[in-house]
Amino acid sequence: MTDRLLLVLATRNPGKTREIQELLKGFPVEIKNLDDFGPVAEIEEDGATFDDNAYKKASFTAKALGLPALADDSGLEAEALEGAPGVHSARYAGPNATDAENNAKLLHDMEGKANRAAAFACVISIAIPSGVALTYEGRCEGVIAEAPAGDNGFGYDPLFYYPPLNRTFAQISVEEKNLVSHRGKALAELKKEFDKVLVWIRQKL
Ligand code: IMP
Repeated sequence: MTDRLLLVLATRNPGKTREIQELLKGFPVEIKNLDDFGPVAEIEEDGATFDDNAYKKASFTAKALGLPALADDSGLEAEALEGAPGVHSARYAGPNATDAENNAKLLHDMEGKANRAAAFACVISIAIPSGVALTYEGRCEGVIAEAPAGDNGFGYDPLFYYPPLNRTFAQISVEEKNLVSHRGKALAELKKEFDKVLVWIRQKL
C-alpha cells in the first residue's frame, strides 16, 4: 500500500477545504490547510491574472512549508467592463466590501451596457517546494442579470444568470452548480488526472 501524500491547501476557508477533501477522498492523499500550520505569512493576491494569483499562493505555501500545496483563484469577468471585476472580484467595491456591496457596484457599472455577457473563471495551481507547478482551469459563461435573484450560493451568484438552466446561480442547488460552474469544472479536471498528479509530485519531491 502506498503512503498517503500530504497536500496543503493554501487557504484558511473551511468550506473550500471540505469541498476539496470530499472531492479527493479515495486517493492516497492527506489534505490539510493553513490553519494546521499556525502562523504562515499572508499572501497578497496582487497578480494581474487568476493564474498569477493561484500560482503565487501555491508556490509560496509550498516553499514556506516544504510540502506540495494547492491553491485556487477565481472571479467574474464581464465583457462590457473589459474583464472587471476579474482578479478584484472579492474587493470590487472596496477592501472590506460585502457581497451585497460588490453586487451593487457591478449593477451600477453595468447600467446602460447592451452587452451583459460574463464568465466565471477558476484556476487551480498545484506547486512543489522548488516552485514548479501544474495548472487546471474552468470557465462558465453566463449573463449579468438586471437585478439580483435567489438566495443560494455566495458572491455574485444572485446576478449570474445561467441561460442553459434559465436561472441565476443563486436559484440553483449547490449540486446543480458544481456540475456546470467554473470551480466544478476545474476540480473535475483535477480529479480526472489526480493519479498522474500524485506520480508527478512524488517524482519531483
Ligand atoms: P476567491 O477565488 O476565493 O479569491 O474568490 C474571489 C471572489 O470571486 C469571491 O469573493 C466572489 O466574489 C467571486 N466568486 C468566485 N467564485 C464565485 C462563485 O462561484 N459564485 C459567486 N461569486 C464567486
